Amino acid sequence: MYQNILIEKLDHFGRGLAHINNKVIFIKNALPEEIVDIKIIKETKKYAEAQVLKYHQLSSKRIKSPCPYFNQCGGCALMYYNYDDTINFKSTKVKELIAKNSIPYEKNIPVIQNPEPLYYRNKLSLKIISGKIGFYEEKSHHLIPIKECLIADKTINEFIQNYQLLNIKNGDITIRTNKNHEILLVINTKEENYNIDIAQLKAKIKLIGIVYNDKTIYGNNFYYERIGGFLFKISYNSFFQVNPYITEELFKLIKENITEESTVLDLYSGVGSLSIIASTKAQNVYSVEIIKNAILNGLINAKLNKKTNINFMLGDVSNIVNNLILKFDTVIVDPPRKGLDNTTIDYLLKTKPEKIIYISCDVNTLMRDLKTLLKEYNLTDYKILDMFSYTYHLESFVILNHKKG
Ligand SMILES: C[S@@+](CC[C@H](N)C(=O)[O-])C[C@H]1O[C@@H](n2cnc3c(N)ncnc32)[C@H](O)[C@@H]1O
Repeated sequence: MYQNILIEKLDHFGRGLAHINNKVIFIKNALPEEIVDIKIIKETKKYAEAQVLKYHQLSSKRIKSPCPYFNQCGGCALMYYNYDDTINFKSTKVKELIAKNSIPYEKNIPVIQNPEPLYYRNKLSLKIISGKIGFYEEKSHHLIPIKECLIADKTINEFIQNYQLLNIKNGDITIRTNKNHEILLVINTKEENYNIDIAQLKAKIKLIGIVYNDKTIYGNNFYYERIGGFLFKISYNSFFQVNPYITEELFKLIKENITEESTVLDLYSGVGSLSIIASTKAQNVYSVEIIKNAILNGLINAKLNKKTNINFMLGDVSNIVNNLILKFDTVIVDPPRKGLDNTTIDYLLKTKPEKIIYISCDVNTLMRDLKTLLKEYNLTDYKILDMFSYTYHLESFVILNHKKG
């Protein structure tokens, strides 16, 4: 045990950071300026992890977390802060990473705040183990049973209150919802025969579909969502941004940054939402996505929104870019967490589109990719979108302009 340890700052995962004998210690649930007694729970040559045994001095910024599972589930690492302090955490984190990676950028980094920082998520994945529903405790396979999740839409919480009607002992469940409070359930389990009380579920929630081990056993395997005046069909296995309030802000940023009559390439396009926004100004948009259902959704979404200038391509971005003949003024990239692969970066550096709009949900892979792209590009705008409020994650919206553009 170590006594009277002063927390110096927060690390990028929202843990308190302190030093003991020049070794860095990461301490969960400890805020800057707090003085705590700690117990080391993991130690390596370079760092240690610890838990608090006793608080001697609390930060004036600490609030009592509204979530009863805060210290166990680990999902919302910042729920001991007021919302404004979580925003400062995110802009400081990005500023520190920009400096650490020697990225030339002097401007302020604004954060577009979430108008609904609680109950915002339209999708939640949970475990059912021995008939109980919840999350795995961080870095373990120990279930934390939950009655509600404070960042999930209230409709999802209504389902959680009634999950027992599924009659499932063990499995994974993803709950998706929309602004109409409809629920689509996606269940994966080794239990082949199901005994779901669909009639009772329908009496409790607006159930629109159940996909059970990839088979639609009730209703539809898709749902619709309307954002910023646009309508989207979304299949059970298609990606859609998890925060509808911030997605609307993302749409505005896309629209502001597309030049009239330009030719746009939208890589990692999902159900075509950003392509549809871009198509309101561009002459032509070309969209690339690897999930077949998402491309099929995209084709329908273009029709639903009366867009005739979007071309959809199904496949792996790294294969497709090498076969593109057209030149693009603007390329939108919105990759999964692992960021861009070398082929895609080489394609961008070789074909030199005037503008790259890089949307990223992983700030570390974004920094890695920026360092390479900055050989040919200037970073001209960096905004944070608070897509994942109260977690340490953030969405970055970055504009790169070609140096000779
Ligand atoms: C972060 S999502 C962005 C989707 C879309 N831009 C949006 O805003 O809804 C990333 C998308 O990339 C797709 N994807 C992942 N790896 C891919 C690859 N190698 N080639 C093409 N698409 C890929 C995923 O299926 C997902 O739809």
